[in-house]
Amino acid sequence: MQYFKKQTAAALDEAINQLSPGVSPGAAELAAWLEYPPDPTLGDLAFPCFRLAKAMRNAPPKIAASLAELLADFPLGEAKPVGPYLNFRVGEDYLLNRVLPSIEAAGDSYGSSDEGAGKTVVLDYSSPNICKPFHIGHLGTTVIGHSLKLLHEFAGYRCVGVNHLGDWGTQFGKQIVAFRKWGDRETVERIGIDELVRLYVRFHEEAEKDPALEDEARTEFHKMEEGDPENLALWQWFVDVSIAEYKKTYRQLGIEFEHYTGESFYIRNGYGQDVVDELREKKLLKLDDGAQIVDLSDYNMPPCLIVKKDGSSIYHTRDIAAAEYRKKTFDFAKSIYVTSSQQSLHFAQLFKVLELMGYEWAGDLVHVPYGTVSVDGAKLATRSGNVVLLKDLFRLSVEKVTEVMNEKNPDLENREEVAEAVGVGAIVFNYLYNSRIKDINFTLESALSFEGSTGPYAQYTYARTCSILEKAAAAGIREEGAVLSHPSEAELLKTLSRFPEKVKEALDSYEPSVVTRYAIEVCTAFNHFYRDCPIVTAETEESRGFRVRLTRAAGTVLRTALRLICMKTPEKI
Ligand code: ARG
Repeated sequence: MQYFKKQTAAALDEAINQLSPGVSPGAAELAAWLEYPPDPTLGDLAFPCFRLAKAMRNAPPKIAASLAELLADFPLGEAKPVGPYLNFRVGEDYLLNRVLPSIEAAGDSYGSSDEGAGKTVVLDYSSPNICKPFHIGHLGTTVIGHSLKLLHEFAGYRCVGVNHLGDWGTQFGKQIVAFRKWGDRETVERIGIDELVRLYVRFHEEAEKDPALEDEARTEFHKMEEGDPENLALWQWFVDVSIAEYKKTYRQLGIEFEHYTGESFYIRNGYGQDVVDELREKKLLKLDDGAQIVDLSDYNMPPCLIVKKDGSSIYHTRDIAAAEYRKKTFDFAKSIYVTSSQQSLHFAQLFKVLELMGYEWAGDLVHVPYGTVSVDGAKLATRSGNVVLLKDLFRLSVEKVTEVMNEKNPDLENREEVAEAVGVGAIVFNYLYNSRIKDINFTLESALSFEGSTGPYAQYTYARTCSILEKAAAAGIREEGAVLSHPSEAELLKTLSRFPEKVKEALDSYEPSVVTRYAIEVCTAFNHFYRDCPIVTAETEESRGFRVRLTRAAGTVLRTALRLICMKTPEKI
């Protein structure tokens, strides 16, 4: 539709200038004024003529009528005045000879662009704290972050995914003490993070009775800071065990990072200290009750803590160091952080401090926040109390899908792979369907439904396009022909034509849900077409060929849209 919009705006610009020279705000602005009519039977785009009433000194319906006359020969479609609006309807020629061939020619890159050519975007997402499992709260940063990465890549940016692991701090002293007292290697190797959590919880229980443990932990962390090889080896092993487990989740989601550069990286390389020195040099540091802070009261924010009373660095210090390092290393055009909205203040402070440090590029830092997620159903309570672990949620979902599959399609090949794609995909889709800032409550039941706006429904629709194409190939149907004989065909093509704009909208608003919702629009349009139009058994050869082309195009767009929101697309379900 982008092309149609552009051409319509250009034609409008010309017509307006003919009627009242100098009045048109230009084609780009006119394109932004064009609306999608709420009732599609009215047209595909609507131009609100009242916006010109004042400048043209005329009543909107009159303007609409005069413009329609001038646009009688508009080659891409038809222009019809309806009250104060001039409605445009795309023509057959546009749909058949422009939209469909452009999808076919571009294939999986249909919707992509070169907007970001030559530019680098750094994306900091997922970023769990070592020795802690993924819980439901990590779903947002992980899948929103990755989807934004895929969207930026699709728009031609070079993307650097950074996992800013929380891998440094006094908690590792506790972990070391607990492990030495109550743990053993074999159990940690076998059970993984859950065992590390168990030891950590035990530490706190024991420390209630024996406060000296806290001092012991501090000493062990201090030794780490001083480079003690034994402690560092143990810590590194905790990191490795944790990452190995995170990678299982990432594999299920198809996620890979360019860098696992956690907080320790900046501290151990001295960048944290560099930040403190730099802030002091720039006269931004202030002593406050023994701690060193940057005062942000002029900006209505609490102070940014840089060095604690006990001399240790904190989260902010490491983030300042990380931002500088990323600018130097990747020379980003944009650096994106995806975290829960609970960290919005943290990032507002961070960006302000970097600005006060004189970095122009502080303006290229973007925080993308998201709301909280809750899960209902006591079924999901887990061993670790009332936090819902992501792996438990995924496992449960995959189990449910497997049950359904056993019943409905017992002979399916690659059953396990497909069940995982559908089970995990159901959760991702359900999550990314909501605009990110909303707090959401999650119900497995509705996520897993094969009806309604769900992941299984979208994947199932994709598989349907694959099976039709298989049948068409078996029947020897040539993918040729271009003839519209049912309104559902045109509707489907119009829906497909909107994909590039949807990608752009999702990117500009950092909102993967735009793509998720669009995927459902494609499914609906395709399923209407499928319901209304016989494909392999269509009456004429031309119609058969054309409808198979249409099926392939819908499959291509759906596959790409789903891929952009971290969904896998099995060809058979
Ligand atoms: N590890 C942090 C947490 O779990 C998230 C880190 C986000 N990234 C950053 N650069 N601060 O809350």
